[in-house]
Amino acid sequence: MNKTALITGASSGIGKALAGEFAKDGYNLVLAARGVAQMQALADDLQRRHKITATVIGADLETSDGAQKLHADIKARGITINALANNAGYGTFGEFKDSALAPALAMMQLNMNTVVALTRLFLPDLIATRGKVLNTASTAAFQPGPYMAVYYATKAFVLSFSEAIAAELAPHGVSVTALCPGPTASGFQDKADMHASALVKGKKLPSSEAVAAKGYRALNRGQRVYIPGCMNWVMAQSVRFTPRGVVTALVAQLSRPTAA
Ligand SMILES: NC(=O)c1ccc[n+]([C@@H]2O[C@H](COP(=O)([O-])OP(=O)(O)OC[C@H]3O[C@@H](n4cnc5c(N)ncnc54)[C@H](OP(=O)(O)O)[C@@H]3O)[C@@H](O)[C@H]2O)c1
Repeated sequence: MNKTALITGASSGIGKALAGEFAKDGYNLVLAARGVAQMQALADDLQRRHKITATVIGADLETSDGAQKLHADIKARGITINALANNAGYGTFGEFKDSALAPALAMMQLNMNTVVALTRLFLPDLIATRGKVLNTASTAAFQPGPYMAVYYATKAFVLSFSEAIAAELAPHGVSVTALCPGPTASGFQDKADMHASALVKGKKLPSSEAVAAKGYRALNRGQRVYIPGCMNWVMAQSVRFTPRGVVTALVAQLSRPTAA
């Protein structure tokens, strides 16, 4: 029988591309996000090309009970999850003092609480099937991020949580991989309204497909932390040997909004 992968944030970008990777390998899919029409088009395409089954579930995962509702829906359909890709997430760009509180709390709910809730809720399935977890963190996880302070902190949480449970779950046959991409071409920059940031302005970014393909291979290797791209890897390592004040000042310099 085919295995089944649940992918959150499958309506665009890295999640959409991850769905393609799992489907190529013969996984049945459960695709979850709010964009049902986009996911249905993806499901139709992948089902036709890879002879798999793809179930689309509209889910708002930044609500306090979004993860529980999604879990209940999947269980009501009698589906067992063998691979969980906690990928849905977004960032907000700008000065913290000018930011509204409610959107920051909603982002924290999606980027952190939902990751914990879905992982915990599907753990019985994952342990029973010696399954796999792929959490999309970010290179943002490795240092503080002025102008995206809350987002960077959420990704530090995802990285720390993923590494910790990877150690706990290894004896149970469950692998956990934190995928840590650098800036990647996707819907992310529009949503974060960060085209003015020097981090992305004028830069040619790797595609979501390339990042997902590398992340999927890391998942299959059982690698606990994977950073796609040599420069991203070097940057993530170098912050370990640099005073945090210096790193934070550098990120502030790099991220600061530039004139249009
Ligand atoms: N692109 C980058 O530069 C970059 C770098 C490092 C890490 N990442 C991480 O990669 C992951 C995927 O982002 P992406 O780059 O692929 O951006 P994207 O194209 O904007 O995709 C984000 C996905 O998250 C989903 N999502 C957003 N809010 C949601 C909600 N309330 N409920 C359910 N799903 C929601 C979106 O679906 P709907 O809007 O249809 O709900 C969409 O499918 C995120 O965790 C992001 O933090 C991105």
